[in-house]
Amino acid sequence: MADSQALLQARFGIGLPGTEVPDAIAGLIDRRVTRRYTEQDIPDSLLDALLAAAQSAPAKSDLQQYSVVVMRDRPRIKQIADWIGTMDWIATAPVFLVWCGDMRRGQRMCEMHDMPHANNNMDTFLNTAVDCSLAMGQFMAAADAVGLGTCPISYVRSHIERVSPLLGLPKGVYPVAGLSVGWPLFRRPVSMRLPPSVVVHRERYDDSALAADIAAYDQRRNARDPVAAGGLKNNDVYPPRDGVGWSENAARQLSVPERFGFSTYLKTKGFDLA
Ligand SMILES: Cc1cc2nc3c(=O)[nH]c(=O)nc-3n(C[C@H](O)[C@H](O)[C@H](O)COP(=O)(O)O)c2cc1C
Repeated sequence: MADSQALLQARFGIGLPGTEVPDAIAGLIDRRVTRRYTEQDIPDSLLDALLAAAQSAPAKSDLQQYSVVVMRDRPRIKQIADWIGTMDWIATAPVFLVWCGDMRRGQRMCEMHDMPHANNNMDTFLNTAVDCSLAMGQFMAAADAVGLGTCPISYVRSHIERVSPLLGLPKGVYPVAGLSVGWPLFRRPVSMRLPPSVVVHRERYDDSALAADIAAYDQRRNARDPVAAGGLKNNDVYPPRDGVGWSENAARQLSVPERFGFSTYLKTKGFDLA
């Protein structure tokens, strides 16, 4: 039987009295990303099973509007790590997946059936991203369940103009995230989450206690895992200083536009986004 309160204390930095964690979901609460891998390879038979688990995720209207590009060629994975520049550990992963939203397949199916594709719009963009994310999430849970480690990599979108041709992504297909996959060299500590009282709303949205809840969360996180000098966001805009908490660091990040060229890229890939 899982030690519910120990798992929840690790995840939230507070206990959740009365919450019982069934054994079947203990691994989900104990999960964390892996950012360094052993030399050991992943057999095709196992990788294919994990991909089958990913494809078993639900998809909007059963349209399955995503694709995944499997990379096993080490120099090509290293190429992506080199472009990113700050995450050299990606090159230690024996497998790198690029999860893509895919409107193209639907467009081609319309063509095959002599019908127009009349849904090149924002809703389809969102549906492709959601289908893709659910599949990636299910892949990660499956990988964790067999002792593998993974880490999603949004930075493939920071180098989209190079990653996209490397993978031969055609119009209608765009990367949502990369995912490094391998056998963990070590397990990182559990990362503390916002308390459920901030994220989970009952019947109606209510963030009236947000300021106090965030201040308490900042304090809990700082006590366990203070923001390291190297983890401070946008030092070129805001002077580095000691004692920056999670929420201030989030604000430092969110106050500077990130990947503002992404919608332009999507338009070159044939997305209307209207
Ligand atoms: C969509 C997405 C993109 C991410 N991109 C990166 C990335 O580019 N590099 C990285 O090191 N971690 C990345 N992460 C991992 C997060 O930093 C990590 O999930 C978060 O710090 C919480 O840690 P935990 O997953 O171990 O709880 C990403 C996570 C998600 C969901």
